[in-house]
Parts: sequence; structure tokens; C-alpha cells
Amino acid sequence: DAAQSLLKTAIGLVPARWLPGGSPDPLMQKHGLIGAPVSRLDGALKVRGKARFAAEVPMQGLTYAALLHSTVARGRIVALDISAAEAAPGVVFVMTYRNAPRMASPALMNTKPKAAGTSNLPVMQDAEIHWNGEPVAVLLADTQEQADHAVTLIRVTYETAPAITDFDAAKGSTRVPANILGEPPSIERGNAEATLVQAAFQVDCTYATPAHNHNAIELHAATLAWEGDKLILHDATQMVNNVAWTLSQIFGIKEEQVHVRSPYVGGGFGGKSLWNHQILAAAASRVSGRPVRIMLPREGVFRSVGGRTMTEQRVALGARSDGKLTALIHTGTAAMTPHNECPEQFSFPARHLYAAENIMIAQRVADMNIVANTFMRAPGESIGTFALECAMDELAEAMQIDPIELRRRNEPAKDPTSGNEFSSRHLTEAYGRGAEQFGWEKRSATPGARRDGEWLIGMGMATATYPYYRMPGGAARIRLTADGRATVSTAAHEMGMGTATVQTQHIAERLGLAMDQVVFEHGDTALPPGSMAGGSSQTASIAAAIIAAHDAFKAALLKLVGNDSPLAGLKPDAVEARDGGLCSSEEPDKHETYVSILRRAGREELVAEASAPPPLEAQEFSMHSYGAQFCEVRVSEITGEVRVSRFLGSFDCGRILNAKTAASQFRGGIIMGLGLALMEETHRDPRTGRIMNPSLAEYHVPVHMDVPKIDVIWTDIPDPHSPLGAHGIGEIGITGVGAAVANAVYNATGKRIRKLPISLDKLL
Ligand code: MOS
Repeated sequence: DAAQSLLKTAIGLVPARWLPGGSPDPLMQKHGLIGAPVSRLDGALKVRGKARFAAEVPMQGLTYAALLHSTVARGRIVALDISAAEAAPGVVFVMTYRNAPRMASPALMNTKPKAAGTSNLPVMQDAEIHWNGEPVAVLLADTQEQADHAVTLIRVTYETAPAITDFDAAKGSTRVPANILGEPPSIERGNAEATLVQAAFQVDCTYATPAHNHNAIELHAATLAWEGDKLILHDATQMVNNVAWTLSQIFGIKEEQVHVRSPYVGGGFGGKSLWNHQILAAAASRVSGRPVRIMLPREGVFRSVGGRTMTEQRVALGARSDGKLTALIHTGTAAMTPHNECPEQFSFPARHLYAAENIMIAQRVADMNIVANTFMRAPGESIGTFALECAMDELAEAMQIDPIELRRRNEPAKDPTSGNEFSSRHLTEAYGRGAEQFGWEKRSATPGARRDGEWLIGMGMATATYPYYRMPGGAARIRLTADGRATVSTAAHEMGMGTATVQTQHIAERLGLAMDQVVFEHGDTALPPGSMAGGSSQTASIAAAIIAAHDAFKAALLKLVGNDSPLAGLKPDAVEARDGGLCSSEEPDKHETYVSILRRAGREELVAEASAPPPLEAQEFSMHSYGAQFCEVRVSEITGEVRVSRFLGSFDCGRILNAKTAASQFRGGIIMGLGLALMEETHRDPRTGRIMNPSLAEYHVPVHMDVPKIDVIWTDIPDPHSPLGAHGIGEIGITGVGAAVANAVYNATGKRIRKLPISLDKLL
């Protein structure tokens, strides 16, 4: 159709430039395996139970661990009685601060390149308590049931100290964080406050978002053993290299002495990093001399693994009568702890989305005595877009203009805060295609205008955005064997999002092999150092390393060709891969297969390894994924119940590398966003700081009945400045969803709900 052919034209117009040396990468625009809707290679293994997860690895003489969690938020242990637990059947070892080995405190993620720590508190080194749920004992037994029973027999007496466990109380005393993921906590362009009060149209609203907990299907788990001074750890983690390095620091050994494996992870959304349980299991194993399996029960994940933190945000917008923003203010406070550095970057979207003449961004944090919060799918952006994109809707309403039109009028030519060029931004196309396919023109601008019996029907939209990141330091190794097959290795992660499948497609295409001639090895610190699966960065990070390794591979291979080869005398940049070998780019008939090259050179294999170049593109350009989220809701006038009846996400995320796994990522993000909008909320007892709903029975996430048909479409325009032209797609899907739902609820009912979740009580 017309849109498709327009897009094809657009793709043709974009020059493909990304390569370490600056020459075009021919694969960036190749429509063969790149982009194909290949099913996940790990899918069948998982369905058949053949993919082995961390808690399933067999070991001789295994013991099973259980943790005891503190019941106070702050104070100290004054008495401990472990005698009944030690005497219980099957108990092997009980560890408390009294007999735990001396360990260094974990290094905090983002403070050191390879750190994986989520808190820098000492782990079970003294009697001090820092949050309600902190592990105070770890017990090993012959079976999980024995451990779970015996741990309940431990008696702990606490002396409590005053604790801040209520966000409303904590907000009274805030501070400015040192930085926010390396960005300044505040930015000022012009004078937004002064411009706001003079603006023809103004909105100035406060939004609140609650705490969320991580609930991956696979519980946090590790199976581990010491072999002398070497720790073997089968973990469920998004960062094998970082876990290995951080544990080596904690135990005072070399990084090479920690071997971490994590080939399959049953979901990770920022929460699968390094928490107390791996450290305590390793310590208990070292002291007891026994291998340990630790699998946190769901309640244990709530108590000892942090998630998204509470925020209160102010968004104020001022506009001229032509709709141009003169003032954009996004400020607020996120809950945090004194022992971590994760200030929930809710102000990031406002830094890059709109061409406001005056901008003020300022983030503060409020310290609380709670489990360290951490990254959770689009940390900051998912809840920051809730505030910003609801405020845009409120402004559009005040001005009586269409919400998409308001956004179009404020589309910036350059990044509004950094002044950098955008590497690739086709957000207005995403708005247009999304609006057309969703039927946006059927929306009534008047709230409450559509109904079906007791059900009020409304439509809302919001912008989605998430930064492009590429992690430094990743490497990849290509090993070609005499049978013409290739194995590509890097310590990356497959958490179910399709990483291994997409990189297998990429390698097959790059080497000119069939997919079944290629193996992608990952999830093991024995492989070349990889990139963490975080920040939606993994695909670009791996791709950059593979491209670098492939350059080295081509150079090494051409050194092997003899004078008799059709490839004789050709330089690496004058050849390309096809049909299981290399050919001259100029004269494709000059071709020799890998099998032939290795055979004539008398080689069994050829191995090439290289590191990715540093991610300089992200310094030169403003790089982001974008989208437009469209939602239709039905709200019961009688019960206040909200039902999402239709949803469409229209994305602009560079080149899409696998249409099937990408659609699943987008949909998964949107579904998580529906939970954020309508139901997810961690409840703490303000008196004790204890989480009161630590189970999936009480902490609600969307189930099938909550999820309508979700359409996802994308521009598929490659970014000329990123490897393979791709942007991240793991987190963009959740962003904007909270606002799209809230704006649809307003359109249906005339009620603005500025505090998530939009539960039915707020609509009555
Ligand atoms: Mo993501 S929150 O970087 O796993």
C-alpha cells in the first residue's frame, strides 16, 4: 500500500553508514534473514523442559537454602536462638552474622564498570537491620522442605530504631542525587517558571506512582559450589560478567575464580542482578563445604529483591495559542535508600521529546528504610511518560486541539536539551500510521460522549520513548570449522526475548550461512566478555562486537587463501559473504566456500575474536526509540471497573531484526504497561515498612482476561548510526502505556486520575 511504498522509499534514502571504520554495513538494509519472523530457537527446548534453568542444575551432595527475613525496618538483633533449628531434621548448617565469613560490601551497579550490586550494605556482617525483610539467617538442609520448616524455628529478638517507611513522610526531607545514570539531576534552559505564568495556556499538575515489585516467572535462584578457591555459580542473571566480578570482590578472590553460567533466564526486567541471596548462598557453601541451591519463594523475592520505587512528579506546561510549548517543567521526588544509587530517571523523556522554549528538569530523592530499589523495565521512562503524557493530554484538552496535533506542533528539529542532532527520529510517521490504523478520527473530543449500556467508551494516546544505549566492553568470537559451520560466542543473555535467535539470524546473514549452520553461544563467563541484558542495549552491543569479530575473521580468512583461489589478492573490504563462503563484491562470480578455503589451507578451524568499538555514536547524536500508544477503554459507570478493549502500539525503533520476537517484545511491554496503569502496586504497612501483598494472589498483574488484542506496527527505518540500524525494543513497549490508558479513561469518563494504579475506587 501507499504507506509501505513510502517507507521503502524512505529506507532507500537513508545511507547506511554504521561500521567501526565508517564504511557502510551491507547488512543494515538487507531483507533476507535480517527482519525475518523466525521463531525462537529456545522455544521448543523450553516447552519440552530441555532448557535447564539455574534452580535445575544437578550437583552431588546438594543442600537447599532458606532465608529468614527481619520483621523490623530498622534496629539491631539483640538475641538469636538457633538451637531448635539446628536440631531439626535434615539441617546441615545455620548461618547468621555471628558465624558468617568476613565479606566486602558489594560494589554498586553503575558506580564501577563491572559492578552488579544493588545495595552497598554489608551482607550479614553485623547485627544491624536496614529494611523489613533483610535476611538475618540462611539455613541449609538436605531438602527444601526441611530447610523451609527449620528456618521458622529460629528465634530473633530485635531492638527497633526509628525508621522512615512511608513515602509521604519521607518526602518531607529530600536531597539531590549525585547524578542520574551519569546525567545531571537538573537541567535549566531559559526561565520556565516565569514563562509558564505568562503563557496563554497552562497546565500544572502533580502525578503519583507507587512501588512495583519484580515478578518474573522464574524465581530468583542459584545453584553453586566451591571447588577449592573457585566458585561455580549457576545463576539466573542479566549480567554474568558483572556478577562474577562483584562476587570476586566480595570474597577477595580473582575474577577468573568465579565462573558464572546463566544460559536460560525465565524473565528478567532489571531485577536479575546481584542480591543478598547469591552472596549468602555462596558464603554458606564456603563455610559448610557443601554445594547449595537457593530458590527464593515468591515472598522472598518481594522481601529481598527491590523493584520500581515510588515517585511524586510535577509537570507544568505553558503554550502559546498556536500550541507551541513555551515552558516545560518536569520535577519531582523518587523514593530511594541511603545504600543504593537508583534515583528512577522519570525526567528523562522530558529532556528529549518536545521543542519547548524554556525547560526545567529537576529530580530529587527521599531516603527510606526499605529494600534497595532497582531498575524495572523502562525505569523512569515508564512512569515519567505517565506524568508527562497525561499533562500533554490535559493541555490539548485545555486548548481544544487534538492531542496528536499538539505533539506534532512541538516536534523538535534537534534535541531540546543537548542540542545534538537526532540520529534517527520518525515519530511523526509513527503517530500518523498509528492514528490511521487505530481509527483515531473516530474519537470524540468531548469526554463521556460514547457509551454502550453501562459502559463508557473512551480513546487515548501517548508518546513512548526510551534511550538508545550500547554498552562498552563486549567482545565476540567467531569459530569456523572445516565442515563449514560457525559458532559465535559472547557472554550475553537469553531471557526469553529472542536474543539468541536474532543473533543467529544476524550471524548466518553476515557469514552467508544457513541458520542451522550457526550456533550462538552465550550466558557463560568462560566465553568472551559480553554485555549485560539491560537498558535495551544488548542487541546493538552484541551486534557491534560481532561486526568487529567478523572484520577480523574476514582478514584472517583472506590470509589463508592461496594464489589459486578466486579470492586471491582481494582486501577484506572488497569481499562479502554468500553461499557458505566469500565472494568479490565487484565480481560475485569470484567465490570460494569456507570449506574449500580451510581444506586447501590444511586448517581444521579458524578463530577470530574482537571487541566492539566504544559507543561513540551515543555521544554524537541524540538516540532514542519512539512510539505512539493508542488505547480504547470501557469503564463501567456502576462499578468503576476499567476494561481495555483495544490497544495499538506504533513504533519507530530503527531496523527491526526479527518481526516475530520484536512484536512479542512490544506486546510484552504493553501488557506490563497495562499492569502499571490499572493494577500493579506494592503495599507497605506504614508502621513497620513490611510489604503486605508479597504474592501474586495479592499483587496483581494482568492476566489473559485483562489483555485485549494488541496490534503492533513499526516504521522499520534503519538508524544510519547504530549497528544493524537497530534501536532497543525491550523497554519502549511499556512507556506511554500508563498515560494512554489514563487519557482514554478521561475521554470515557471526564475524570483525570493522576495517581496510579487507576483502580476502580478512584473512579467512583
Ligand atoms: Mo532493564 S530495567 O534495563 O532489565
